[in-house]
Amino acid sequence: MKIVNCQINHLNSPLGFSLTDPVLTYHFSNNFKGKFQKEAKIIIATNSKLEKPVFDSGWQRDIQPTGYLLKIKLLPYIRYYWQVWARTDNNQEIKSDINWFETAKENENWSAKWLTCDSTVDRHPIFSKDFVLNKKVKQARLYICGLGLYVSFLNKQKIGAEFLTPGCNNYGSWLQYQTYDVTKDLQGKNHLAVLLGNGWYKGRFGLNAKEPKPNKRKPWKLIAELHITFTDGSRQVINTDESWQITRSKITASGIYDGEARDDTLPDCKKEHVELSKTKHARLTARLSVPIKIFKRMPVKRIIKTPKGETVLDLGQNFAGIFKMKVNLPKSKKIKLQFSEHMQDGNFYRANLRTAKQEYDYTSNGKPAVLEPCLTYYGYRYVKVTGLNQINKEDFMGLALSSSIPPIGKISTGNKDINQLISNARWGMLSNFMDTPTDCPQRDERQGWTGDAQVFSATANYFADAYAFYNKYLYDMRTEQVKDKGMIPSVIPDFMHDNTTSSVWGDAATIIPWTLYQYYQDPTILEKSFSLMKDWVDYIKRIDGNDHAWEHHYHWGDWLALDNPSHDPNQPFGGTDPGFIADVYYYNSANIVARSARILGHNKLAKQYDDLAEQIHKHILDEFFSPNGRPCITTQTGLILALKYNLTKNRPQTIKMLRDNFADNHDLLQTGFTGTPLLGDTLTSIGLSDLVYKLLFNTKYPSWLYAVKMGATTIWERWNSVMPNGHIETSMSSLNHYSYGSIVEWIWRYAAGLNQSQNCYGFQNLTLKPHINSKLKEIKASYNSASGDWQIGWKIIDNWHLHFSIIVPFNCQAQIKLPSLYQAKIDKNNPIFANSQDGICHLAAGRYEITYLTNIPLINKLSLDSPVQKLMANDQVKNLLLKKLPVIKQIPPTMYQSSLRAILSKFGGFLRLTNKDFDQIDQEIHHVLLKNELQK
Ligand code: BGC
Repeated sequence: MKIVNCQINHLNSPLGFSLTDPVLTYHFSNNFKGKFQKEAKIIIATNSKLEKPVFDSGWQRDIQPTGYLLKIKLLPYIRYYWQVWARTDNNQEIKSDINWFETAKENENWSAKWLTCDSTVDRHPIFSKDFVLNKKVKQARLYICGLGLYVSFLNKQKIGAEFLTPGCNNYGSWLQYQTYDVTKDLQGKNHLAVLLGNGWYKGRFGLNAKEPKPNKRKPWKLIAELHITFTDGSRQVINTDESWQITRSKITASGIYDGEARDDTLPDCKKEHVELSKTKHARLTARLSVPIKIFKRMPVKRIIKTPKGETVLDLGQNFAGIFKMKVNLPKSKKIKLQFSEHMQDGNFYRANLRTAKQEYDYTSNGKPAVLEPCLTYYGYRYVKVTGLNQINKEDFMGLALSSSIPPIGKISTGNKDINQLISNARWGMLSNFMDTPTDCPQRDERQGWTGDAQVFSATANYFADAYAFYNKYLYDMRTEQVKDKGMIPSVIPDFMHDNTTSSVWGDAATIIPWTLYQYYQDPTILEKSFSLMKDWVDYIKRIDGNDHAWEHHYHWGDWLALDNPSHDPNQPFGGTDPGFIADVYYYNSANIVARSARILGHNKLAKQYDDLAEQIHKHILDEFFSPNGRPCITTQTGLILALKYNLTKNRPQTIKMLRDNFADNHDLLQTGFTGTPLLGDTLTSIGLSDLVYKLLFNTKYPSWLYAVKMGATTIWERWNSVMPNGHIETSMSSLNHYSYGSIVEWIWRYAAGLNQSQNCYGFQNLTLKPHINSKLKEIKASYNSASGDWQIGWKIIDNWHLHFSIIVPFNCQAQIKLPSLYQAKIDKNNPIFANSQDGICHLAAGRYEITYLTNIPLINKLSLDSPVQKLMANDQVKNLLLKKLPVIKQIPPTMYQSSLRAILSKFGGFLRLTNKDFDQIDQEIHHVLLKNELQK
């Protein structure tokens, strides 16, 4: 067994990141030399042999793999080496490899100066410096920030493998600098060059934004320090200063929405002198952003000649990124590439991009060239090529970009449509994690909408270790909030400056940190975010005042739900009272603040927010429920919220109302951004997981698989972003909006069953809750959580046999009630039953495997939910039912397609059957079937 994946601040070997409140985390590989960690120690030194450590914790019982807060002062420019040791319950000693992290400038002042240049010129500047080194280099680091975007080159080689640096944040509040190890790239004679682009900072960016006129453009800026240490111990720093020079690149336009233009026919420019920037600059901070990198190369799948005569490349997958293209064109030949995510009536379609041009323009100088934009990104699957007579598939390669979030969760099922849905959600995440969690990667928006980020965060953390990514977003959020006196702007960073906020969206301030705590159990996320969470709730409290004004504030509500009374497809607001939603989320946020305060030991505050939550709860009951607890808000989302947050005094009636709502709506969903992420969890908690599966497997609109059947490769913004005839009919119809992908959280938690036990965090203690479904056939899930690598798989072997395989990681434990287990036939020697009580198996760390006989049929299920016709076709069941419910003789054959439960619920009132009676009959049906099976 080994200790692996040692991280600091949830980053592997970070170079030059901001490391305030450093937290060390680690994992155990699953070789099981014991069940749990008894104690651990951490050693840190400034040399790779760990001699003369600067820190040695000694053996301690309270060092936990999910987070050990390092209380040492980190010095600038130092590479620290560290190692974790652990002792297991059976006294085995294990250790990690030696890991490192390296600090950046910490609080050191910058000796470099901010440079700028004439920014009214279209041709993008390249700042450069030539220098000679006469001694042998031991180590060299480049600390750099450039605005809007920068790409740096040393001796013509691009430095680092990142894109879109210095990242996306509010440049007026803080600026991130990156650190690069350039030791191996230095020579005797050196040329350091930095190309600047527009990006989020100075290009056209924001809803309804226009390209600024040349004289209104923000200035390009650059600051850099190259720190060189020679083998003789001496040092040299190359700073940006007056000695740098400027040339002009061949790039004439760049922008996040509109793309890039390059003209190779342009003559080389005279060298210009740099200007020292005199404007004020925001605080320079070591980076928090994880790098944006190419994570996949996307070859062309087919070349399409459209009815309109267009040449279109199809890459087979919607994604966000750039491309690489080889060209060999005559001099002055112009080509244009346009990017889109949809084809309509066989032709290239891009109206859903709204004003975003998403283009690449190129003019050739007659020499072979490789085109690769570096100052933009596109959301696309299709590329229309104009100006080329001939193109080969091999000439073009899509480059998928995303913030680097290590994949930690893999899940697949026995149903290919569901697998496609999972893949769509994953691609949606990767396309929209572009330093900020954006709503979409293609149209003239691409903003860090808080609501979208919030609803998808639980799913994202199953797919990937997204802690560090969200940590930066939360830092952005707090930065904006401080300026806005507690308010959380609708988009973060606040590029819209429209002073709007909304419930559910702003509640990202409490929900995202709380989600991260639940997944990673690192208390520093709560410590760091506590003011953010508390100030948001305090902000609502101020707005709410004494007359519940929060209810009447502007809210996005159940955005894009289908139950707006107007039934106007262009109407984005759902039918659930936004005031009710706002109060419920206010209640939830107050609860999260109270719980977080308690975890952090602020008990007085915890009590204060508990009291506030109670007051809000009381108001919700007074305002939105009858005195006896009947919900007044009867939409699907309204009832889901009432149940999810335990608001109703009359739970059984609320459950019945939700059930009836679905029944009246032919078991179709109507929920939007607010209700959809909670739908699966809530229905499951009231025993309706079968309904979740029904919704999940529905292939007709509105459903997840409707999009899959229509060929979607990412999650759509709307349930009907593309109509059955293949047309996009509303102006707001992105095909890469991950919000509804949040159903994948349900697949992880309830289809696979990887569900945390109540009040347990960090995936150390799970109550495995797999819900078996014959259409799914099987599921395989592995999740390398904060506490270790979980694996769970189930498979329906045949109508009466189920197979399970489970790995509980070292230092973890789980409970499982094996679904539909036929107790009388179990193999008691199977280790899974070693510690079982009342049908619940308590599992310590280890591997488990079992195939067992079930007490109900798994494939040909018969129950009160089956159509009468099916029930009557089975002789044993028919006899049982005739005995138990003689009234069924009177059901007319015209109703034989309906389920017996539905018929009895509607017309069987006089029988006075309770839910318990229904369950009893179901059990008897199963019993009859089992008896029959055992007799075979
Ligand atoms: C975005 C959404 C966002 C919404 C606010 C839209 O334009 O694309 O995803 O949450 O506005 O309701």
